Formats: sequence, structure tokens, C-alpha cells
Amino acid sequence: MSGSTMQAAELFSAQYFQDPYPSFAWLRENSPVHEFTFPVGDVRMWCVTRYEDVRAVLADPRFSPESATWGNEAFRQAGLVTGAGSVLEAAVTVVDPPAHTRLRRLAMQAFTPRRITRWRETVVRRVDETLRACAAREQFDVMGDFAGPVSAAVMGEILGLTIERHQDLVDALEQAFPSDAALMDRVPEGFARICAYAEELVRAKRGRPAADLTSALVTAEEEGDRLSEDELTAMVAAMIMAGSDTVRAFVGNAVLALLDHPAQRQLLVSRPDLTPCAVEELLRFDGALSTALFRIATTDVELHGTPIPAGSPVIAALLSANRDPAQFSDPDRLDLTRSPNRHLGLGHGLHNCLGAALARVEAEVALPALFRRFPDLTLALPREEVRYIENWAMRRIVRLPVHRGGAR
Ligand code: HEM
Repeated sequence: MSGSTMQAAELFSAQYFQDPYPSFAWLRENSPVHEFTFPVGDVRMWCVTRYEDVRAVLADPRFSPESATWGNEAFRQAGLVTGAGSVLEAAVTVVDPPAHTRLRRLAMQAFTPRRITRWRETVVRRVDETLRACAAREQFDVMGDFAGPVSAAVMGEILGLTIERHQDLVDALEQAFPSDAALMDRVPEGFARICAYAEELVRAKRGRPAADLTSALVTAEEEGDRLSEDELTAMVAAMIMAGSDTVRAFVGNAVLALLDHPAQRQLLVSRPDLTPCAVEELLRFDGALSTALFRIATTDVELHGTPIPAGSPVIAALLSANRDPAQFSDPDRLDLTRSPNRHLGLGHGLHNCLGAALARVEAEVALPALFRRFPDLTLALPREEVRYIENWAMRRIVRLPVHRGGAR
């Protein structure tokens, strides 16, 4: 077996999901534009792992996320087109300009500095409530009792979600982002349920606008242009999907990184001025999205001498780019003072994270608050037993039980 074939088996293997970094290091060195077979539908794909290539692919219009238009037959047949058959096929996340430019501009109208300041207050309140509940117990699960409730409560309040249907939405999200490739066939139903929920919410807010993001999207207007009913549904569904699980996953990864690095954790607690810089480093060190959404080559492309035929899916490995020694000195070291830090944890190019301001606020509030409240927080399971879900795009810890120690 050639070295390259050997690694192909390791990308998206059970071992890879638990620790993808050794595979990425090997790929960056030996096969930077790596052809392999995706585990779902046996589709031929290419994975780029070097910082400069990941950045280039995300900024190059020859690589489009509009997979419904550009994806080859094998890709479509495998059911890998995001939101196929639903309004999500035309969501901001997956369309090319000029449709993307228009949707993004209208959405950005809702992300005003004033609103972001108000969201910080929401986050502070929700984090505080959640930590109070955690303090009532000797042991709690960072994922299930902290990261999960904080991200869901913040997104729920900001979008103006209705509480009665909350569990239904959580279940639909689990279905849309399965923790195991064997559950891929349930994904379209998960997407459909989220869209139905978003549609209902948009209807409710149109009738009774409030001070939430959904209402702001309903009324967003630029030069007489507004989002249509389907576009609104897709936008709200995209926010629900892009904005809750990512935050949950990121907070979990960041907490573990800080538990693993006591001196850095101490720095976070003792130097509040460092918080924004610390969050950037945590996003670099172990972000929530292993890869960007699929990009499709819209034409025959050659990268480092490797031909990629038109219609082929390309995976941009964000976590790998963020550990590339050609870009970051000593990349496997967590250094909360690292600067400059042009990481790709929130993406790059036209489709970079639309909710980046909110994501940063959530992490900037939640992480120092947790470690300030529980200065003696320790893992309540052996380190090697921390497990990650087996999802190709999301890097999320399953459970992270901790002893809280004394609380402040
Ligand atoms: C720590 C949490 C988060 C992480 C790590 C994250 C990461 C990312 C990344 C890497 C992308 C680019 C994907 C690509 O190019 O294929 C992206 C896009 C996006 N994110 Fe986030 N995100 C986070 C939180 C949020 C939140 C809170 C929201 C909503 C309020 C949000 C909404 C979006 C949307 C709508 C897009 C698509 C933008 C476009 O295509 O123009 N994200 N995010």
C-alpha cells in the first residue's frame, strides 16, 4: 500500500475523529492536495490541508459552495448537497454571487453594533444562570450542563425562538448533524424539520415583530429590496444551524484546552485584558469546524500539480490550516498571547462566519466566567476517555464531566 493510500484510509476513520492532527500533519507534508474516497457514497474528493491552500480555496471563485449547481453526479447521488430539495439549497451559506452578495448584505443589516452590545448582556445573563445551576452540583458535564444550555439559550433568546418547541428543535439538529455516518439518511428530514420551524417563526414574527434577530431579518431592507418568504426561512434556518452547535462545540473544545494547560488557564483568569486575544488563540488551537462546507471545482483546476476535474468536491481542512507550522510558530502550543493570529477558525473569504461577532462574545463571556467561578475545576474522567462525535465537519466532545471543586 502506498503512503498516500494508507492515509486516505485514516481521513475520517474512527481514529481520525478522536485526533485528526497527526493525519493533518502527515497530509500537509506528504500529500497537500489529497485525493481520497469520502466514506458516504464512495465519492472521490480532494482535501487541502496547508494554510495557504485552505485560504486560497476559500477565496477563489473557482471553488464554489453552490454544490446543487456545480456538484458532479456522484456527489449528488450520495445525498451530499446541503439542504437538497429544501429552501436551504439557496441559503446564504451555499450560494454564489450575486445572490450571495444580496443575501449577505440584507442579513448584515441585522447585525448592528447596538444589537451586538445588547446580545452581550443576554450572554452574560444566560452564562450566569447556567453557572448557578452548575454550582449546585459537585460534578457536572461541561457539554450537557454548560456549553449546550448556554449556546441554546443565547440563540433561542436572540432569534426569539418559542420555548415550547425547544426540545423538538434540539432533536431536529441532532438529526441534521448526525454523530455517526450511519445516520446520514436521516439528514434531509432533520433539515426539513428545521425549515418548518424557521417558517413558523418567521410567520409569527411578521405578525408580531419584537426586538429579536428574526424580526430584524423580517424588516431588513436595502434600497427597497427585502428577503422573500423562502429566503427568510432559509436565513433563519441557516442561523439556527450555524449558530448553536458550533458555539456548543467550540466552548467544549476551549474548556478542555484550558484544563490541559493550567498556566494558560491561570492567565485567562488573571488577565481580563487578554480575553479577546485568548479567544482567537482558542479558535485556532481547536476550533469547532474541522472543515469548511464542501467546495466544488466549477472548472478543471490544478493545485500544486494535482488536477481537480470540474464538478469535484474539495474539502478545506480548517483545523489543519490552523496548525500549519509554515504559518504559525510552534503551532501545537497553546499561547493565549499569540499575535498576530490570522487563524481560519471562522472561515475566510466571502462566506466567512456571518455570526463571528456573536460567536466571539459568547466565548469571551463564557470561558473566563466558568474558570473564575470554579478555580479548582478538574476533569472527572481519565483524559484518554474524552471522546469526540464522528462527524466530518464538526469537532465536538460528547461528554466532558468535571468536578467543580470550591465555587466563588
Ligand atoms: C464558535 C462558533 C462558530 C464557529 C466556529 C463558526 C464557524 C464558521 C465558519 C468556519 C464558517 C465558514 C464556512 C464555510 O466557508 O464553508 C461560518 C459561516 C457562517 N456562520 Fe459561523 N461559526 C460560529 C458561530 C456562528 C453563529 C453564532 C452564527 C449566527 C448568529 C453563525 C452564522 C454563520 C453563517 C450564517 C455562515 C455562512 C456565511 C456565508 O456563507 O456568507 N456562526 N461559520
